[in-house]
Amino acid sequence: MSNTYQIAVIPGDGTGAEVVDEGRKVLQAAAVEYGFDLKMTDFDFGGDRYLRTGEVLPESAVDELRGFDSIYLGAIGHPEVKPGILEKGILLRLRFELDQYINLRPVRLYPGVETPLKDKTPEQIDYVVIRENSGGIYTGTGGVSMKGTAHEVAIQGMVYNRFQVERCLRYAFEYARKYGKKACGKGQANTLGLVGKTNVLTYVFDLWERVFHDIGEKDYPDVNREYYHVDATCMWMVKSPEWFDVLVTANMFGDIITDLGAETQGGMGIAAGGNINPEGVSMFEPIGGSAPKYTGKNIINPLAAICAGAMMLQTLGEVEAAGAVEEAVKKVTGTKIKSLAVGKMGYTTSEVGDLVVGYIGK
Ligand code: IPM
Ligand code: MN
Repeated sequence: MSNTYQIAVIPGDGTGAEVVDEGRKVLQAAAVEYGFDLKMTDFDFGGDRYLRTGEVLPESAVDELRGFDSIYLGAIGHPEVKPGILEKGILLRLRFELDQYINLRPVRLYPGVETPLKDKTPEQIDYVVIRENSGGIYTGTGGVSMKGTAHEVAIQGMVYNRFQVERCLRYAFEYARKYGKKACGKGQANTLGLVGKTNVLTYVFDLWERVFHDIGEKDYPDVNREYYHVDATCMWMVKSPEWFDVLVTANMFGDIITDLGAETQGGMGIAAGGNINPEGVSMFEPIGGSAPKYTGKNIINPLAAICAGAMMLQTLGEVEAAGAVEEAVKKVTGTKIKSLAVGKMGYTTSEVGDLVVGYIGK
C-alpha cells in the first residue's frame, strides 16, 4: 500500500493561490511518479476572509491543522489590511503555536539563474541558513508607555532560554552532520557556523555561543564549529558565499540575512523555506510576499512555491520525489526560462508549472 499524506493548503493572499496551484500540480505529478498519495484540504485564511468576517484565524484552526501531516502556504499580506495583523495573526501564530522552531532556508543558486554577485556560480552559492523560529525579539517581552508624547518609551526584548537555543543548535548540528559538504578549511569534518553578535549582545549570544561549544564538543565532535558576527556574515555572503555550508542563527538575524541570501540566489521568485517542527506539523512556503499587484495575471513566478513543495516532500520522507522536483526545477531554470523576474520569464505562471511537471523523473 502506498503512503497517503494529508496536506493542509493555505493559498492565502494575492498571488499566493496562483503559485500554490502550480506547486500542487507539480507535487501531484511527483506523487504519481513515485507512488504515494497527497490529499489536499484547502483553508481560506488570509486577508479576504479577515475583511469579510473580522476574524484572522478561527479558534479551531490551530487544532485542526495539528491533524495534518504538513501545511503548504502561499503568501500572507493584503493591501487593505494594516501591516502586522495578518502576519502576526496567521503566519507567526501558526509558527509559534505549532512550535515550528526551525526555519530552514536554503540559499542555492540554480543553473541559468542570474545572481547580482559578479562571477559567482551555482557551486559557490550553495548553503543553508537554519533560523531559530520560536523566540528572540519575535516573542520577547516589551511594550510602550507614554505613547504619543515626547517621552514615549518602546521596548522589545531579545529573549532566549537555554531550551530554545539548545534544541535549535542540536537540529543544526544534526543537519550539518547529515547534509554538510564542506570542511571550510578545517580537517575533513563538516562545518556548522553560528551567526551572532557576541561583541555587543553579550548576554544572548554568550548563551548561544556557550551552548554551541558545550553540546558541540560533547555530542558532535565530528562537526567543525565556526563563529561569525552577523554583520561580517552579510559581507561574506556577498563577497565569499562559497565559505558557507550550514549556518545557524537567532530569529531576527535569520530573517534579515535570508532576504540577503535570497537576493543572491536570484530573488524572491526562487527562495523557499520550511517552518519545521521536527516532532510535529511543519509548514512550507515561498519566502516572498503576496505581490498583490500581480494577482490573477498569470505572470508571477511559481518556482519558489514549487521548491517549498520539494522541501515538504523531503520532510515527509519522500526523499526521491523531493530530489526529482528540485532537479526538474534546475532543468527549467537552466534550459527554459529567461529570467526569474515577474513578466520576464518568457512563460506564464501555469506554463512554468507545466515545464517542471514535464521534467519530473526524466
Ligand atoms: C519571513 C517574513 C516574516 C518574518 C514576516 C512576514 C512576519 O519576513 O518569513 O521572513 O519576519 O518572519
Ligand atoms: Mn523575512
